Amino acid sequence: MDEDTPEETGSAAGGARDETPGSPRADGGTERADGPTEDVALDPWGSASVGDYADLFEEFGIEAFDDVADDVVDPHYLMRRGVIFGHREYDAVAEAMANDEPFAALSGFMPTGDPHIGHKLVFDEIIWHQEQGGDAFGLIADLEAHSARGMSWDEIDEHARNYLLSLLALGFDAEDGELYRQSDNREVQDLGFELGSKANFSEFEAIYGFDGETNISHMQSVVTQTADILYPQLVDEPKPTVIPVGPDQDPHVRLTRDLATRMRYFKVTEAFASFELDDAERQLVRAAYDALAADVDDAETDVRCEGAAAWLADYEPPEVGAADRDAADGDAADGDADDVPDLAAAKSTALDKLRAGGKEPLRPRVRFFDRNATDEAFEALIEAVEGDKRVFEGHVDAFDLTRGEAESLAREVEIDHDGFGFRQPSSIYHRFMTGLTGGKMSSSIPASHISLLDDPEDGYEKVKAATTGGRDTAEKQRELGGEADECPVYELYAYLLAGDDDELTKTVYSECVNGERLCGGCKEQAAELMREFLEDHQEKREEAEELLDDLDIDLDSDRRGTGGEH
Ligand code: TRP
Ligand code: SF4
Repeated sequence: MDEDTPEETGSAAGGARDETPGSPRADGGTERADGPTEDVALDPWGSASVGDYADLFEEFGIEAFDDVADDVVDPHYLMRRGVIFGHREYDAVAEAMANDEPFAALSGFMPTGDPHIGHKLVFDEIIWHQEQGGDAFGLIADLEAHSARGMSWDEIDEHARNYLLSLLALGFDAEDGELYRQSDNREVQDLGFELGSKANFSEFEAIYGFDGETNISHMQSVVTQTADILYPQLVDEPKPTVIPVGPDQDPHVRLTRDLATRMRYFKVTEAFASFELDDAERQLVRAAYDALAADVDDAETDVRCEGAAAWLADYEPPEVGAADRDAADGDAADGDADDVPDLAAAKSTALDKLRAGGKEPLRPRVRFFDRNATDEAFEALIEAVEGDKRVFEGHVDAFDLTRGEAESLAREVEIDHDGFGFRQPSSIYHRFMTGLTGGKMSSSIPASHISLLDDPEDGYEKVKAATTGGRDTAEKQRELGGEADECPVYELYAYLLAGDDDELTKTVYSECVNGERLCGGCKEQAAELMREFLEDHQEKREEAEELLDDLDIDLDSDRRGTGGEH
């Protein structure tokens, strides 16, 4: 969520930056020869700018937030206004929210400078999820700041304090939620250690562009972040968890989703016979089974592989569009490329498998694979499967369980046997704010951003001096209208100043593009709102001092060392 552009671009210790188009991409190692590799990179430690948000859907499998927006009962204004543009499996969180089931929200902040209006988006997102009933977590990524940015512990202490005060001032309820520093959270450290045993260097190389020069503590901070992301699931039980971040953090989310799965004791799939099927093949075999089972007396014995092969040979699979891709498999809507079933290609492999199956009965079942389970856990699972079951080396087939029941059972047994039972974490992604001077919002250009600690008068002046989407003359503005879509001042209204007031954003927008609004007055109004916001926020920060002091967070660490980068 780093709206900041790091000043140390190009230095060695990260080895992670991706300046050259076409150089190793931060995309989780799914390099494709035919993809538009230029310009698209998600780099947690690089410059936080995204050329085209639509590319992120194509390239990385981030889902459009629009697709899930309807599932959110009372969406936040950042959702309504398209500022939150993407997600991974947010449906799980929206569903839990709608059904009053447990869910959580967590995000983290590198204490490298002052919190600014870009961070406020994320503070607000955490707080909103807390207000909707979620367990809320905010963390200070001090290990990351020290190892990847070379921040001294004194600087980190000071900045950490400022982030936490703003988070509290904006309404984070610390009695109900949890704030922590990475360095202070032993459970996170221990979890990171476990997760690290499921990742290796080649993978970090592929995902982050790490190389032989990357300092080891930086790598440790990555493992720590994956632990942060799963930490809410250690509290009480595994649960849907949303990580609100900028899209630059998506590589961490993807890695964590993978690690969450790799930690699981059992893998649950659906099968029809002894052989395995991929998602597309399964869809076809299901179609064959459904068609044949309807016509026989006893579906359990009378539908056979060879019969299904004969049926499938004459079957014309429908073309499946991208929109249907996640619906096709029982998996979460994770948008992975392998969720797109290519039915035409699957037909011939499914046919091969069915023919090889010969007279083996075709019978729907759920299959539990032993992925990481101890012997006792596997035995306990077998024991716990109700109804008809068949036990094989390394897996067990259950004939009377639904996929959902099987998933729950697998998780239960895992947790009973010292496993975590993690669910894959979800995420939502917000757009980066444009700098007030045009271009990127950067902490190294003070005029480009507004710090939450800025003197309200300075905030006022920065808005007054901002670049606009206005025309050269008032006359032209009246004639052509302004370009609100290109205007950093309009963004200020939409992202922050209008708050929940949709009417205000709509009025500013339509008056602007219709030529009824001139930039001078528009900026004056925005500047005054900004001054008010900062005054109010800073007053609340003062009130939050006491709250913060009452919390058990050490903001005067006596740690030593100089960190990873200077
Ligand atoms: N890497 C994040 C940043 O650069 C900070 C962070 C650490 C984080 N742990 C996290 C963000 C967990 C989200 C979730 O700002
Ligand atoms: Fe931007 Fe306002 Fe000018 Fe429109 S009128 S271009 S929104 S400053």
